[in-house]
Parts: sequence; C-alpha cells; structure tokens
Amino acid sequence: MSQPPSDARILVVEDEPGLRDMLAIFFKRVGLTVSVQGSFQHGVDAITNAPEPYALVLTDLMMPDGTGLDIVTCARSRSPRTEVIVMTAHSTVETALEAMRRGAYDYVAKPFSTSELRELVFKALEKRDLVTENARLRAQIARERPGTLLGQSKVMRDIVTLIERIANTRSTVLLTGDSGTGKERIARAIHDYSDRRDKPFLVINCGAIPESLMESELFGHDKGAFTGATSRTLGIFREAEGGTVLLDEVGELPTALQVKLLRVLQERKVRGVGATTEQPVDVRVIAATNRNVESEVRQGTFRQDLYYRLNVIRIQVPPLKERQDDVLLLAEQFLERCNAEHQKSIRGFSTDAKRAICSYNFPGNVRELENVIERAVMLANGPVIGLGDLPPELSGSSALAGPSLLTLPESGCHLDEVLAEAERRLLVEALERTGGVRTSAAKLLGVSLRSLRYRMQKLALEVGESDDGDLGPPSEQILSSSRGDE
Ligand SMILES: Nc1ncnc2c1ncn2[C@@H]1O[C@H](COP(=O)(O)OP(=O)(O)OP(=O)(O)O)[C@@H](O)[C@H]1O
Ligand SMILES: [Mg+2]
Repeated sequence: MSQPPSDARILVVEDEPGLRDMLAIFFKRVGLTVSVQGSFQHGVDAITNAPEPYALVLTDLMMPDGTGLDIVTCARSRSPRTEVIVMTAHSTVETALEAMRRGAYDYVAKPFSTSELRELVFKALEKRDLVTENARLRAQIARERPGTLLGQSKVMRDIVTLIERIANTRSTVLLTGDSGTGKERIARAIHDYSDRRDKPFLVINCGAIPESLMESELFGHDKGAFTGATSRTLGIFREAEGGTVLLDEVGELPTALQVKLLRVLQERKVRGVGATTEQPVDVRVIAATNRNVESEVRQGTFRQDLYYRLNVIRIQVPPLKERQDDVLLLAEQFLERCNAEHQKSIRGFSTDAKRAICSYNFPGNVRELENVIERAVMLANGPVIGLGDLPPELSGSSALAGPSLLTLPESGCHLDEVLAEAERRLLVEALERTGGVRTSAAKLLGVSLRSLRYRMQKLALEVGESDDGDLGPPSEQILSSSRGDE
C-alpha cells in the first residue's frame, strides 16, 4: 500500500490515557503528524480552531462529556475532506450505521491490532487524496476552458443569446464596459461558441506595446525589415489565422495604426512591416475598450471610419452593481474554484457575509469580486466565509451595519425589536461560524450553553443540521439517530 502524504495531519480524540499514548506513538511511527485530545470538548475545540482542517480524525465513541458521533458531525461540517474513523468498545450495528450516516469513513472495534488500524487509516487517507485530486482536476478543467460565462441576470442572459446568434459570423464586435466587467471573458466566449474554437484565440493589448513595435506585433515583419529585425515574425493577425483576435484597449491605438487596421478589416489582407505584398487573412476581430469611444470619436482622437467598422455588433457590458442577480452566483463559483486551488473546503458564506457582498457596489466589478473571494478563502478558518474574512470596505459597509442598529433614526425606533434583531444576527453568525456546534458558539458569544439554548428558543432559531455537545446521556445519543446528519 502506498505511503500517505507526510503532511497529512491527524487528530486523536480518546479519553483513556493509555490508548491515547499508544495511538500517538503509532501515528508518529507511521510518519504522520498527530495531535491528541483527551475529551469530547477538547476534540471539538481542536477541530473548530485548527488553522487547516485535519486530514483524519480518529475518535472514541463514548466519552464522559460527549459522543464520538458528534465529533463526526463537527469534523465533517468543518471540512468534508476530513475523514473520520470511530473507535468503539461496544460496537453495535446502530452506532456504526449512525457514524457512517454522519459521514464517518469507517469504524473499528476495540481492541484492534496496529496492523488493522494502519490499513484502515491508510485507506481513509487514500480516499481523501482521490477526492482532493478530483477537485483539483475539475478546477483545472474549469480554468482551461475559461470561456464559460456565468450570469443569470437578464443582461447576461441577453448577452449569451446574442453571442450564440453571432458566433458563427465574421462580423466585428465592439465590447465596451468598465474595467473588470468581463469583456475579455465575453470575447473568449464568442470564440468558444464559434466554429473557430479549435483555432487560436489571441489577445493583444494595444495600450501596453510601444508605438514603434505595435505595427510589427500586429502585422509582422520580414527579417531585416528594420534595424533590429533579426528574424521574421508573423504578427498576431497571421498567427491567429482561422481564429479570433481580440484588440484589447483598442482606444489606445495610435492614429497611424488606426488607418492600417481599418485597411486590414476592409480588405482582409495584411502587409508586414517593410513587405511589398499583402497576404490574405481569415480572422474574426473583436475590439474592447473601457473608454467612451463615442466621445473620443467626437473629440477626433479615434477615427470615425474605424469606429463604424468595429462597431458592427456592439456589446455593452454593464457594471456588476447593475447585475445584482449575478453577484452571489459568481461569488459561489469563485469560492468553489478557490477551494479546489487552495485545498480548502469552505462550504459557503455566513448570512452577514452574503448580505455584505450583496450590498457592496464593486467599483472593480467581477475582477474585484474574484479577488475578494480569493482573499477570504485564504483567511477563513471556519466552515464558512464570515464577515470578518471580507475586506473592510465590504464588512464595514453602512448598508450592513443598518442605521437602525447603530444610530437612532430621526423617527425613533423600537428598542426591543432592534435588540432582538442584533441578537439574532450575532447568534446566527456564531452558529454558522462553528458549524452549528452550540458549545463552541456559546463560547464565541461569551454566554453559557444554557443561555444560548434559551436565546435560540426565544428567537425561534432552528439549527437544522448538526447536533452538538449538549445531548443527554450516551444511551439517548444513539437513540437520537433520527436527527439530521450533515
Ligand atoms: N461572467 C463571468 N463569469 C465568470 N467569470 C467572469 C465573468 N466575467 C468576468 N469574469 C472574471 O473576472 C475577471 C475580469 O474579467 P475580464 O478580464 O474579462 O474583464 P475586462 O472587462 O476585460 O477588464 P479590463 O477592462 O480591466 O481589461 C476575470 O478573471 C474573468 O475571468
Ligand atoms: Mg480586459
């Protein structure tokens, strides 16, 4: 059997000191990094507070202060990539089934031999590696096919319909919209929807290349065409033969080149720098700009004839704040991708974080949203992204703080309602952050478990999924198996 990765971190939760020590020695001997905890509550705390989720948790079933079944729930809600093995002295079919139902990998009956344990642990870690590898491959595929356009807002649906209609024509497309709205992404989608998809899709940033080199970048040159031209280059138009060229920041194109580009678009032929003959090219041209081309045409900095030629099909990409319906969809997609890329398993966003994301106006558009999520994924160490994982411009957004919660409105307020709302929000946030484990949520809020329970009842807060450390005596725990699993 192959050796598991040595960076896999293991947690042992076992109240019996002798067995605990033996397990610590066992894991060290097989080359794994292990932490041990001697009680249910310490186990829950270790799982909740670990900077990275454990690869594997090996837990006793019966402990004086709680049950291994709840350790399973806690570990699996912190990260579905944590595998859990339950150890039990009195294994019954019911407990085993319940542990599995809550997401445990397997269970082992005490007493067990080290070889038995070794085999089980390695198998669990192997399964985890496969799951991780699958997620990584899925993310890679998504990255390699970046043409997928996400969006359920009316504007984005209209844009997709238009793209489908025009993909197989050769008409020039002009994409306008603020920075980060997704112009390049849309250009890529046009290419991917078209029957040019197997040919190159090349992007040239007209603003980033010095004027003296731009012409040869576009149309190529022969060896010796000018000083420094030591070899022949094709230029982007000929390199993209049969495919699509995106002229990004087309508003930055120097006037002399605007004339030459217009000729290429009209004649469908290019002439390399210093060349005497023209060569036919077959490319679809898409131009993009975040400038206001119309006003540049009026001011005379952008040629009107080129503008008409480029503006055959116009796609105006609206800023993200005008596409509210897309915000969470994109956020979730970015979360999934970042999870896979950074080997994390964050399940979603807390209610407050969602609210903050939805009420922010994203001046940097989709690109800014993408960066916000990437940063949050790196920072988050709970099962969901919380308000604190978002940058201050989002988390401190005034819409979120809600004037009614912090300042007294002109018209006055109803104090009890406002306080109840504040309490509800904090409770929900704490429960979400701790994966529904009430003991940890109570600690986070600085109240006793009893007080938390009372407040939840008062506010009619149902935490559907996970039971926690405050169930009754052990016999009840097994009987409580009809309650939700994760
Ligand atoms: N509809 C979308 N679905 C998925 N990802 C998107 C979408 N729109 C934009 N993105 C992502 O947001 C980021 C910015 O998009 P893009 O580069 O296309 O913007 P742009 O309009 O070309 O910006 P700029 O004007 O600054 O060049 C990219 O990482 C892109 O993949
Ligand atoms: Mg761009």
